[in-house]
Amino acid sequence: MRTHTCGELTLQHENTTATLCGWARRRRDHGGVIFIDLADRTGITQIVIDPATPDAFRTAETVRNEYVLRATGRVRRRPPGSENPNLSTGDIELSVDTLEILNTAAPLPFSIEEEHLTESVRLTHRVLDLRRPAMQRNLLLRTQITRAFRRFLDAHGFLDLETPMLTKSTPEGARDYLVPSRLYPGHFYALPQSPQLFKQLLMIAGYDRYYQIVRCFRDEDLRADRQPEFTQVDIETSFLTRDEIIALMEALIRAVFAEAAGVTLPDPFPRLTYHEAMRRFGSDKPDLRVSLELTDITDAVRDVAFKVFSDPANSGGIVVALRLPGGSALTRSEIDAYTQFVATYGAKGLAYLKVNDPTQLNEQGLQSPIVKNLHSQALHAILTRTGAQKGDLIFFGAGVPKIVYDSLGALRVKLGHEKGHLRDLEWAPVWIVDFPMFEYDPDEKRWVACHHPFTSPCPEDLDRLTTDPGSVRALAYDLALNGWEIGGGSIRIHQPEIQQTVFSALGISEAEAREKFGFLLDALRYGAPPHGGIAFGLDRIVALLAKADSIRDVIAFPKTQRAQCLLTHAPTEVSEQQLKELHLRVRTPTL
Ligand code: AMO
Ligand code: AMP
Repeated sequence: MRTHTCGELTLQHENTTATLCGWARRRRDHGGVIFIDLADRTGITQIVIDPATPDAFRTAETVRNEYVLRATGRVRRRPPGSENPNLSTGDIELSVDTLEILNTAAPLPFSIEEEHLTESVRLTHRVLDLRRPAMQRNLLLRTQITRAFRRFLDAHGFLDLETPMLTKSTPEGARDYLVPSRLYPGHFYALPQSPQLFKQLLMIAGYDRYYQIVRCFRDEDLRADRQPEFTQVDIETSFLTRDEIIALMEALIRAVFAEAAGVTLPDPFPRLTYHEAMRRFGSDKPDLRVSLELTDITDAVRDVAFKVFSDPANSGGIVVALRLPGGSALTRSEIDAYTQFVATYGAKGLAYLKVNDPTQLNEQGLQSPIVKNLHSQALHAILTRTGAQKGDLIFFGAGVPKIVYDSLGALRVKLGHEKGHLRDLEWAPVWIVDFPMFEYDPDEKRWVACHHPFTSPCPEDLDRLTTDPGSVRALAYDLALNGWEIGGGSIRIHQPEIQQTVFSALGISEAEAREKFGFLLDALRYGAPPHGGIAFGLDRIVALLAKADSIRDVIAFPKTQRAQCLLTHAPTEVSEQQLKELHLRVRTPTL
């Protein structure tokens, strides 16, 4: 139907005949001549309809926004002064001989060119929203990225294999989405939280290198970087060590960023152990563009009079300082706002100290409501360890490690971006290695797996699996980029006895392990090769490269933060007949 797309014609095509199809984005009548911006996903071409072609002109007069048109005419140079340097086609226009309306469009709820729309309007009218150039750029980038992943993985001998969607629970720490079985009353499939166990089974079956660009389902609390269904680039390999996998995956990510977005990432990526990342940045996905760092002062404040510090320091908690260079210029209301910010992470307060003169360890040199309750030895340690200079401000967090790290880690990133404490780096990838194998869940009063229960412990730590689980490190690794976790993986357990020991360290009895994961334990007995892999969060990678605030902006049909689809209205109630077939009765929740 067309000879060219709307983003294609340039002066090279001058004086040739072209036929374009597209949407009428804007119509202007100028002294008897009608101009229409004809748009498709590749761009916009200005078409011009003159009264000298009366049929086309009459048609053009009836055109409204977003009508679908087909126009044939001659490509001509725009008159001098009317070129549009913002368009790839800005030097030319199409002088139309014939104009056809392929379809009309109802009046729109908003203009495609409107930039300030609420998200609920955008998601309700997603089809029109997706017609906006910003969204078209994002989805185009998404396919360029998946293509680059496939190209690299195909070239490196990976097989693209599918795994079931209707399956048994694959735990990754979230709630399952369940699908009731019609044939087996009271039985349910689970949608996969990831293909973890199947990709391990494929390794045991001898498929060596697997990948899949695959949808995963997790019923968890949603945020800007989390959707209930999202896409992983899921990868598994056999006979590669941890460092070989990390090196290959790093080459993959470098290739994808270069090919899809022209971005050059560092070679190699830096690595941090989990403990170093927590200690220095308060996060296992640190934003290394920010130059600020945390400083531990727990040991220096054990015997101070200020109970907010000494109590946690003497009872397993921590006290951490965050120096903000030049921060003594902060106003009271700014400090109050930061105090409210850390409160959202559970911090009970945000003590601070302004450094007027670091040589005077008293209320003249140091301006703060807490100075009188800290002795000079403690003050000395705080100033020297943080490297405080005149004009700085030091923030403090005290309490249980999780809250202190979460709150000061987030404050570090916020201050870094708001106050400009940034390294000269646009992209800061970092591997986090040596994760703990387990973390203690105080609510459930048991150890839970930090990654997942199929991750191999570090061989040196194996003998402490049952005696001191908290000290066991895992052969797990995460890739963080600019403060987002974009991938995570591990070397897996390939010996059934170790898998069984890990299950028991997690409080999973032998009978329960057999019932839930018997198929894995059995497969591990028939010659499982050493294997390991990783999964990258595709939506997050696209969002970062698209500079989008949320992964919703790089998913064609996302769900809201409340897990609804505003376009289709899913989830919806279903008919009594469907429930009956599935042997289900709905229990209305009592509020
Ligand atoms: P993990 O749970 O770390 O590992 O997930 C891998 C990556 O997937 C992305 N991700 C998400 N993206 C959007 N919305 C979500 N709800 C969401 N949850 C996770 C993140 C994360 O790094 N089976 C293991 C991988 C392995 O061990 O090989 C797994 O699923 O970017
Ligand atoms: P208070 O003694 O509660 O008035 O607190 C004195 C100062 O300590 C205030 O600036 C509080 O913001 C701060 N503060 C209170 N609890 C904490 C905490 N857990 N961590 C850091 N600072 C705190």
